[in-house]
Amino acid sequence: MTVATKERADHPQAEVSWEASEGDEYAPIAIESLLAMASVDANVYLKRDDGRFVLYRYRNLPFLLADQERLIEHRVKLLYFRRSEKKEFFRSLEGQIDQLIASTTIAADEKANLLYQSSLNLVEQFFESSDVAIEVQRTKRLVSNYVSFVLQGDESGRSIFALSGHDYYTYKHSVEVCTYSLSLAVKIGIADTERLRSIGLGTIYHDIGKKRIPKELINKPGRLSEAEWELMKQHVAFGIELAAPEIGTDPIAMAIIENHHEDFDGKGYLRSLKEPDLIQEVRVAIVADVFSALTSERAYSRAHRTYDALMIMKNLIGKRIDPDIFRELVMMFREAQPGPEAESGLSKS
Ligand SMILES: [Fe+2]
Ligand SMILES: [Fe+2]
Repeated sequence: MTVATKERADHPQAEVSWEASEGDEYAPIAIESLLAMASVDANVYLKRDDGRFVLYRYRNLPFLLADQERLIEHRVKLLYFRRSEKKEFFRSLEGQIDQLIASTTIAADEKANLLYQSSLNLVEQFFESSDVAIEVQRTKRLVSNYVSFVLQGDESGRSIFALSGHDYYTYKHSVEVCTYSLSLAVKIGIADTERLRSIGLGTIYHDIGKKRIPKELINKPGRLSEAEWELMKQHVAFGIELAAPEIGTDPIAMAIIENHHEDFDGKGYLRSLKEPDLIQEVRVAIVADVFSALTSERAYSRAHRTYDALMIMKNLIGKRIDPDIFRELVMMFREAQPGPEAESGLSKS
């Protein structure tokens, strides 16, 4: 068997990127993850040294320890599935995500990646489908797994934080705000599982109201007119309407949807609430929301580098964002990506 060896990076996270780049037909999965899954409803491929992909296993054929050993012998770390079979692949993955997260053999980076990609797939579905009903049971299950994962220790929080995206899609942003918020929440000492699940649910749905905003408006480059801006702001009210029948019994999740554009100093929308009226969970979501928006490519603005985004946020302390939560964000960034960029006076704010 001739196989590629270049996947053997010290930091497989860097290699395991499922971002679809042009002409990129295959997405990778670590072999440990495949082993932890009973079966996968998609064909699995192997990448050869010459860069070509060959069929390794038909859909639903079990992947056994002996298979893994053989692959390890040949220094294979990653297998691949076709992006065109992504729905089938993620359905299998979601069905088995509890075992994957509980597994002791899968690396934290890989777990974070599996969760992140499964969530992207799910959020993409609830934003893109014409059906208004939110896939609430599937989302709750994924959020529970995020919570179990971030409670597994510092390394998991860091792994989630290291996943960052630079293309702006509402669904990608939703997952980012969820993952950043959960890591931040644990960091500031929120340890209660139910509370964390509510944060996960509220943040993943925080922009669900954008389903009702025309895509041309969301993707409009340049400034919005007064009327367009007023309509855009309505995504908060639409979000409340869409989410209430599904998660209305969860006051923390609903508060996040309702208040994520309120400012620390009362100059936000829709209700101009001030800091004492914004619960801690909402203040966490706001910091995560601003950070994700700044570091993402949007129709009307380029993605800022992490350091620049943090500098911009530093100027928003006490106006838009909570100083203590911002400090934790800086700390998380320094831990996740130690290096010259993180060396600055940022944490002294
Ligand atoms: Fe929003
Ligand atoms: Fe947002």
